[in-house]
Amino acid sequence: IYLLVGMKDFAGKKVLVTAGGTREAIDPVRFISNRSTGKMGYAIAEAARDRGAEVTLISGPTTLEAPRDVRKIEVESADEMFEAVKQEYLQADVVIKAAAVADYKPVVVTRQKIKKGPDSISLELTRNPDILEFLGQNKGDRILVGFAAETENLMENAQKKLKKKNLDLIVANDLTLEGAGFGVDTNVVKLLFADGRVIPLEKMPKRQVADIILDTILTLK
Ligand code: CTP
Ligand code: CA
Repeated sequence: IYLLVGMKDFAGKKVLVTAGGTREAIDPVRFISNRSTGKMGYAIAEAARDRGAEVTLISGPTTLEAPRDVRKIEVESADEMFEAVKQEYLQADVVIKAAAVADYKPVVVTRQKIKKGPDSISLELTRNPDILEFLGQNKGDRILVGFAAETENLMENAQKKLKKKNLDLIVANDLTLEGAGFGVDTNVVKLLFADGRVIPLEKMPKRQVADIILDTILTLK
């Protein structure tokens, strides 16, 4: 029985995971988004559930099924994700921000569908709140894990985000590698810790990456 149910080493822990990309509305029928599919975040939510955690998953729109026994909160925009996170983070022992949050949103969302007209038009964008930075500023006793999606200067950029957002751990994702990043079932990441340690992982299924992230969290504090 013990082998079948596995290790419940997250029993009694509350884990908040964000996953998927956000959508930033332009008009009633259009939005700006990114290539995130939610697979990494959902894999983390499932792994944490399997290990006995009480899991809340705040998810942007994805085609993935809600994992059973996970409380799922669906959001669309970065602003909505921020609101949901503010509602939930105080109850969490661990927050893992796997979501690909849009950095910018349109300044104006038109009420009517934009009609085509001139040969060229432009869209003015404004910054979204940085949810993870907010969490870092209001961290308390929580363990805070972020992701870094990079196409260049992986270590340097990830290091900066780790520091700026006051994280315990950042999962650095080199989007130029085959079998890494958005849309695929595998990932190739490096784990960077607040104390300067770096653990590079080989290419492996996202579920396995998820379990290693959880193993690592248990070694912190
Ligand atoms: N993040 C967030 N809120 C945002 C933007 C990002 O919470 N508005 C989180 C992501 O969920 C991720 C981490 O911050 O865990 C890093 O996201 P990333 O896009 O790699 O970095 P940014 O800080 O947004 O910097 P840039 O896009 O300029 O590289
Ligand atoms: Ca970003």
